[in-house]
Amino acid sequence: MTRRAAILVSGTGRHLEHIGRLCQAGELDLEVGLCLSNKPGVLALERAEALGIPQLVLDPERNLNDAGFSHAAFTAIQDAGCDLILLAGFLRMLVVPRAWNGRVLNIHPSLLPAFGGKGCWGHHVHQAVLDRGCQVTGCTVHVVDNQYDHGPIVLQRTCPVEPNDTVDTLAARVFEVERDAYPDAIRQYLADA
Ligand code: GAR
Repeated sequence: MTRRAAILVSGTGRHLEHIGRLCQAGELDLEVGLCLSNKPGVLALERAEALGIPQLVLDPERNLNDAGFSHAAFTAIQDAGCDLILLAGFLRMLVVPRAWNGRVLNIHPSLLPAFGGKGCWGHHVHQAVLDRGCQVTGCTVHVVDNQYDHGPIVLQRTCPVEPNDTVDTLAARVFEVERDAYPDAIRQYLADA
């Protein structure tokens, strides 16, 4: 049976768009039932709109604490008929209720457990990789638990760090790896489920 996923975003939504297109093309056996953003006006919402994916902006002014936000998010996700959650550039803490353990995935732009944790996202990750002199980096798709960037790893992919890399060139190379890694990890997760 085709599973129905909610994709949670805070920014540009390249993963949302790619995964949404693969689903619509029948290349990923998944339906995207909701795009939930904690930020209003982000490009991810426009991309969801263009793909006909229902959108919801939750707590844009940050009135809720993490528990309150998470409760509202899981309620909306369940109401949308989703039973799987994909975090895709989502930058708010999500407190996963017990009933959802093992059903929330995240992609992170480093080889976890290196360069993860609070404040370690997007360009901060790539800057830290360059500062440390790493010669290899990559991305990790993992199951989300209640610690930042921490749960069991589903899949990792690597790419080189080149001598003249800037944050932008490295971020672009890692994203090229991420593009296929997330759908491949989802396929593997669905096959194992
Ligand atoms: C991706 O590179 C993803 O790995 C990263 O944010 C970007 C989202 O891109 N996630 C994190 O850093 C999470 N800690 P997108 O919004 O264009 O899909």
